[in-house]
Amino acid sequence: MAMKLDHLEKLYVTQLKDAYSAEKQLLQALPKLRDNAHDEKLREAFEDHLGETKAHVERIERIFQSLDNKPAGHRCRAMEGLVEEGEEVLGEDGDPGTLDAALICAAQKVEHYEIATYGCLREYARLLGHEEAVALLDQTLEEEKNADLRLTQLAEDWINQAAMHEA
Ligand SMILES: [Fe+2]
Repeated sequence: MAMKLDHLEKLYVTQLKDAYSAEKQLLQALPKLRDNAHDEKLREAFEDHLGETKAHVERIERIFQSLDNKPAGHRCRAMEGLVEEGEEVLGEDGDPGTLDAALICAAQKVEHYEIATYGCLREYARLLGHEEAVALLDQTLEEEKNADLRLTQLAEDWINQAAMHEA
């Protein structure tokens, strides 16, 4: 890490950069997940989250503008690994139900990572008095939580069951 972490403001900026890199990586990965999902509702969930992810990127860019800073210069290693694991599923042989269940599991790991990041960021923004950023980060956090919930519902409603029957 290039910057000395001696104030919450600096931690805030480094974590914003991390989130930005994570979202940009996810923008590349989501179309692949969408195109490889067998279940139509799962495809829709990935497609909708792709749209939301574009907005998440733009919100972070807006926050950086207000800080007179740029989100470049950092690559989120965690998202790199999470995406890699998700893409491993794409190369697997198997039945549609089980593969979809595996895609959901990979995508939920991504969502939980993002939920953790945005939860921290929103709280830092609040403490630092960045009111507009609090609102933007809160909006993104809610969308990540809803995306996660939607995946849970798809898994529990029928996709996990499908994975148990199609052996
Ligand atoms: Fe996001």
